[in-house]
Amino acid sequence: MQAVSLFFSFLLFLLATSYGEAFTRNDFPEDFLFGAATSAYQWEGAVDEDGRTPSVWDTFSHSYNRGNGDIACDGYHKYKEDVKLMAEMGLEAFRFSISWTRLIPNGRGPINPKGLWFYKNLIKELLTHGIEPHVTLYHYDLPQALEDEYGGWINRKIIEDFTAFADVCFREFGDDVKLWTTINEATIFAIASYSDGYAPPGHCSPTTFFNCSTGNSSTEPYLAGHNMLLAHAYASKLYKLKYKSKQRGSIGLSIYAFGLTPYTNSKDDEIATQRAKDFLFGWMLKPLVFGDYPDEMKRVLGSRLPVFSEEESEKVKGSSDFVGIIHYTTVYVRNSRSKPSLLPSKQDFFTDMGAETIFMGNSTFFEWDSIPWGLESVLEYLKQSYNNPPIYILENGTPIKYGSTLQDTPRIEYIQAYIGAVLTAIKNGSDTRGYFVWSMIDVYELLSGYTYSYGMYHVNFSDPGLKRSPKLSASWYTGFLNGTVDVDPPAITPLESNISGFSSF
Ligand SMILES: *[C@@H]1O[C@H](CO)[C@@H](O)[C@H](O)[C@H]1NC(C)=O
Ligand SMILES: *[C@@H]1O[C@H](CO)[C@@H](O)[C@H](O)[C@H]1NC(C)=O
Ligand SMILES: *[C@@H]1O[C@H](CO)[C@@H](O)[C@H](O)[C@H]1NC(C)=O
Ligand SMILES: *[C@@H]1O[C@H](CO)[C@@H](O)[C@H](O)[C@H]1NC(C)=O
Ligand SMILES: *[C@@H]1O[C@H](CO)[C@@H](O)[C@H](O)[C@H]1NC(C)=O
Ligand SMILES: *[C@@H]1O[C@H](CO)[C@@H](O)[C@H](O)[C@H]1NC(C)=O
Ligand SMILES: *[C@@H]1O[C@H](CO)[C@@H](O)[C@H](O)[C@H]1NC(C)=O
Repeated sequence: MQAVSLFFSFLLFLLATSYGEAFTRNDFPEDFLFGAATSAYQWEGAVDEDGRTPSVWDTFSHSYNRGNGDIACDGYHKYKEDVKLMAEMGLEAFRFSISWTRLIPNGRGPINPKGLWFYKNLIKELLTHGIEPHVTLYHYDLPQALEDEYGGWINRKIIEDFTAFADVCFREFGDDVKLWTTINEATIFAIASYSDGYAPPGHCSPTTFFNCSTGNSSTEPYLAGHNMLLAHAYASKLYKLKYKSKQRGSIGLSIYAFGLTPYTNSKDDEIATQRAKDFLFGWMLKPLVFGDYPDEMKRVLGSRLPVFSEEESEKVKGSSDFVGIIHYTTVYVRNSRSKPSLLPSKQDFFTDMGAETIFMGNSTFFEWDSIPWGLESVLEYLKQSYNNPPIYILENGTPIKYGSTLQDTPRIEYIQAYIGAVLTAIKNGSDTRGYFVWSMIDVYELLSGYTYSYGMYHVNFSDPGLKRSPKLSASWYTGFLNGTVDVDPPAITPLESNISGFSSF
């Protein structure tokens, strides 16, 4: 008996160590959460209804010709319909964000009762359908009034205003919400918004590719990042002092995490890859886990990198109960240090990092190959280098040209391969506790507007009723979650070495 079961354990071990093992929902821990996500500006619409005031994202999208979130999916009015779709899909959790200016118009002062009711009703609707809410407090939508008043995230005043906003959310919703993310993809948020300028509020130095009206790419990303870490830490501290013993939730920061792998096997590219890990993960994770920035960043940036006081360092350290991971693809890292730039002299986050990131395979800015081992390697790296923090994968998914098909088979293949990678990482000790598909439904996208979409439900944006229709991925997810779909060994095609795109992030 003993020998036989040992033999089977060994066999299982062999199977478990390779990709392609069949799995089901039941191979994951019971309390692991599978869900899907949206965010306020991308889903709600109703931007000037019931007392909501503009955020920097409203301003930003209206200054470019690539659509806006004025109506989006009209989730503000259609939330009951959407929660019903989520329940039909079998979602265990729904991640959404709270629009700061809907709850507290202009960012500070009295609560807007209609905003409060909207979120209370949404949360109630979710709980009635057995769906766990995961709430993000900040998803690119700073009150425009605070940007105008003092420059938003580059001013320390944001810490107090953000903490006061968080306080209202914990007090009003915390009896029902157990999972809080303070700031969405804080790393790429600081980079895209303050170094490259392609996300709101669109700051960058005048020399960079995007034509920003204000900014300084060599200082602002680090300043904004610093204030984000402090705002997160103050909100987290407040939660622990005032609410946690009663509400028993957890609170985390989320970062954007590419898989990173050296472009060649040269020593230079290997070192550049480690440097990229310090800049792209360690920048936020080292303070959260160990209380200070990575040495390499301090060395490269000198006085451009803000310094934590001892008290601040103590506050930031340990302030994240979990790490939220936003993961879409894996890129090559090529050393670019000491190579003269082709562009006119610019100093920004990526020149500081001294490495360029290059898309793999057939990937371009809007479409990419499925590279599930890249997510596994991120989870493994966090386990080994950052004390194995609890992790939620808060976004993972793949864009397909909007409206091209409801038979989104490539999305199903992508999602099941990445879920498989999460399972492999868990089996090797990663403390990953949840996985959210981006996105539950087609939404207004930050980079691609309405031209590429990620939804498991299609929205007909030309239809005045914004009709929703399930894509194949929705019924696949249903089957996976109800345990009737076994994921067959996914055919993971070996990656061709083929560069077709350069990424600026
Ligand atoms: C950015 O800030 C640095 C440090 O204050 C300064 O030296 C530099 O001139 C500024 N660059 C721009 C483009 O304003
Ligand atoms: C950038 O801004 C300048 C000054 O406002 C303007 O003349 C120029 O056309 C803009 N360039 C682009 C690419 O938008
Ligand atoms: C599994 O975890 C061990 C211990 O952390 C580590 O040494 C090993 O490299 C991991 N295996 C994979 C495939 O990542
Ligand atoms: C979307 O809605 C418009 C307007 O109602 C309709 O004409 C069109 O056929 C719809 N498209 C699809 C793909 O259903
Ligand atoms: C499971 O989901 C599938 C959709 O993929 C559905 O056809 C089936 O009826 C569901 N089974 C149960 C037991 O809910
Ligand atoms: C790249 O595209 C080609 C042609 O469409 C396809 O055959 C190949 O499998 C793709 N490579 C990857 C890694 O997806
Ligand atoms: C790389 O991909 C592009 C676009 O899919 C294709 O045209 C090209 O032939 C590929 N190159 C190599 C070396 O495979």
